[in-house]
Amino acid sequence: MTTDTTTKDTAPGAPAPGTTILDARGVTMRFGGLTAVNGVDLTVGSGEIVGLIGPNGAGKTTFFNCLTGLYIPTEGEVRYKDKVLPAKSFKVTAAGVARTFQNIRLFGNMSVLENVLVGRHTRTKEGFWSAVLRGPGFHRAEKASRERALELLEFVGLAAKADHLARNLPYGEQRKLEIARALASEPGLLLLDEPTAGMNPQETRATEELVFAIRDKGIAVLVIEHDMRFIFNLCDRVAVLVQGEKLIEGDSATVQGDERVVAAYLGEPLANDPGAAEAAEVEAAEAAQASGADTTTDTAAGKENDR
Ligand SMILES: Nc1ncnc2c1ncn2[C@@H]1O[C@H](COP(=O)(O)OP(=O)(O)O)[C@@H](O)[C@H]1O
Ligand SMILES: [Mg+2]
Repeated sequence: MTTDTTTKDTAPGAPAPGTTILDARGVTMRFGGLTAVNGVDLTVGSGEIVGLIGPNGAGKTTFFNCLTGLYIPTEGEVRYKDKVLPAKSFKVTAAGVARTFQNIRLFGNMSVLENVLVGRHTRTKEGFWSAVLRGPGFHRAEKASRERALELLEFVGLAAKADHLARNLPYGEQRKLEIARALASEPGLLLLDEPTAGMNPQETRATEELVFAIRDKGIAVLVIEHDMRFIFNLCDRVAVLVQGEKLIEGDSATVQGDERVVAAYLGEPLANDPGAAEAAEVEAAEAAQASGADTTTDTAAGKENDR
């Protein structure tokens, strides 16, 4: 065998459900004076779909970059299946962690199929001489890769467009193609950075189904997304990042019900925020002023508005 031609339905060597496969501990990333990610712990178990949410600039993408070898964390450690992940993105992919990007990165002038084939290169093992001599081993490997790539296009619903140029695909389909390309490396863990950004509601629902189908193939998923309906429908567990730190982590109901999460999203002052008292005073003053416009209203009525 000159290549891994795995076409099994489950990820090769998938661990038993519930085993921790990704273990990020104390991950900190500083850019000069800015701490974009600060001491974040996060685990993903096999068979799990974990969500990572937080306002813009919270450090979500930076955290992904630390998990995938694009950045070397200033502090902390990331283990995948008990091994510290190498600090090179292609090695991380080879180790079994694949990703998509917030800003789509496809080869626009290549066909849809070729883009998926690019994603397979970490899994094809034919060496230099095999490629140069183009012997039977090379051709077998190439054929197997094409078959697997077509299978993945079928899986994401793009088989009919295999020969189209990637740049001619509508936006939603480009995102699907990115997922197919990531799956081509046969990962055990897939990281998705805002997979439904720019999608219409139908496409978003379809992506939800696709993520469930990926999980059902034995691939764990860690997903960043702003669409809360998508996140809370999909995820077994959700972690919230705010200003580089993990604010809370739990199941959908716990996270949805946490008023700090609501505050982080709506931009309201946090309960223990030193600015909160001041903001309350301003609000009270405004309410008093509003009620003061009607000279017959007494202070008691003004107080009523504060409640
Ligand atoms: N390469 C970089 N150099 C300097 N600052 C960065 C870099 N990447 C991200 N940042 C900063 O880190 C913070 C977190 O950004 P990011 O991880 O993209 O947030 P999110 O994905 O949650 O919106 C932001 O303040 C951003 O400007
Ligand atoms: Mg981001």
